[in-house]
Amino acid sequence: MTIERPAIPSFQPPVRTLMGPGPSDVPPRVLSALARPTVGHLDPAFVGMMDEVKSLLRYAFQTRNALTFPVSGPGSLGMETCFVNLVSPGDKVIVCVNGVFGGRMVENVRRLGGTPVIVEDAWGAPVDPAKVEDAFAANPDARLFAFVHAETSTGALSDAAALAAIARRHDALTIMDCVTSLGGVPVLLDEWGIDAAYSGSQKCLSCTPGLSPVSFSEAAVARIRARTTPCPSWFQDLGLVLGYWSGAKRTYHHTAPVNPLYGLHEALVILAEEGVEAAWQRHRDNHLRLAAGLQKLGLDFVVREDARLPQLNTVWVPAGVDEAAARARLLNEFGLEIGAGLGALAGKVWRIGLMGHSSRPANVALCLAALEAVIRG
Ligand SMILES: Cc1ncc(COP(=O)(O)O)c(C=O)c1O
Repeated sequence: MTIERPAIPSFQPPVRTLMGPGPSDVPPRVLSALARPTVGHLDPAFVGMMDEVKSLLRYAFQTRNALTFPVSGPGSLGMETCFVNLVSPGDKVIVCVNGVFGGRMVENVRRLGGTPVIVEDAWGAPVDPAKVEDAFAANPDARLFAFVHAETSTGALSDAAALAAIARRHDALTIMDCVTSLGGVPVLLDEWGIDAAYSGSQKCLSCTPGLSPVSFSEAAVARIRARTTPCPSWFQDLGLVLGYWSGAKRTYHHTAPVNPLYGLHEALVILAEEGVEAAWQRHRDNHLRLAAGLQKLGLDFVVREDARLPQLNTVWVPAGVDEAAARARLLNEFGLEIGAGLGALAGKVWRIGLMGHSSRPANVALCLAALEAVIRG
């Protein structure tokens, strides 16, 4: 044998308070659900739990869509599942870009042989519906429309109802990224007429990272069925995945992440116990508490007041403060994680998350006290 036996002990993670852009704090109930005994992924008990996860997700997404389930992978895989099934080569897709995650949608369209029509807004601004109207007027052949509901790179919330209504008037299907919005602010797929949505387990649902709830309308399913070219991804081909996630007899597609799905089930049960309206209100209340404290510290928000995400608060780093050094002190001295800026905002902002289980008055108080200590030296 040439490879020596490594003398590595078990990993013991430090205890942190997670107030960045995700993952958020995972509640003890979810952590203990993850530790329950693993069963076979086609065990009747597990299949029954999968059906409950689908029902719980329909509640979270506020939809009756039959095709609602968690993709076995992070939010990025949920995104690709939507694009890879709905975009055919040659399709024109109107894509809104007001931060990092809209840019990834554009990249998806390009890689699938589609033509993206980009509607740009400033980083920190919500998507402007007037620009989307103009894009449809100039591109009446666009078959799809895509936008990010809650731009995690900036903290801006866009008006999903208004945007989806424009797409419907122009006979286009809508893909919405609700990775950061689901569970934190209203997400009303049916009322708004969203055709494909993807989210993540690690933000306002406060499960561990690695699962991506998705939901598709009947119109989206019809579009997928009418494809003339095969879905270019075997793993994400919804026609194949569905034999496993639905129907009277489940057939093997891939081995589902059994224990992570116990965790998601528990996180969704917690959301249902609280009620989505109460969860949205809690996120709002804690955001207002934090915003009042940040104002007292002299920290200014990047996003205008009426478009701020309660679960992701982006503030300019004050002049004279070393951004990275301050975050390192928060982590090392207070066990508190907040997020750095991404892309165009790197080095300029802090992103303070109040997502899911992290959205608590005690976390707000800790964050404000710790920030005061590091800013004032
Ligand atoms: C808006 C948005 N979309 C997509 C993603 C990608 O999710 P994941 O990191 O789970 O792949 C993220 C992650 O932060 C996000 O915030």
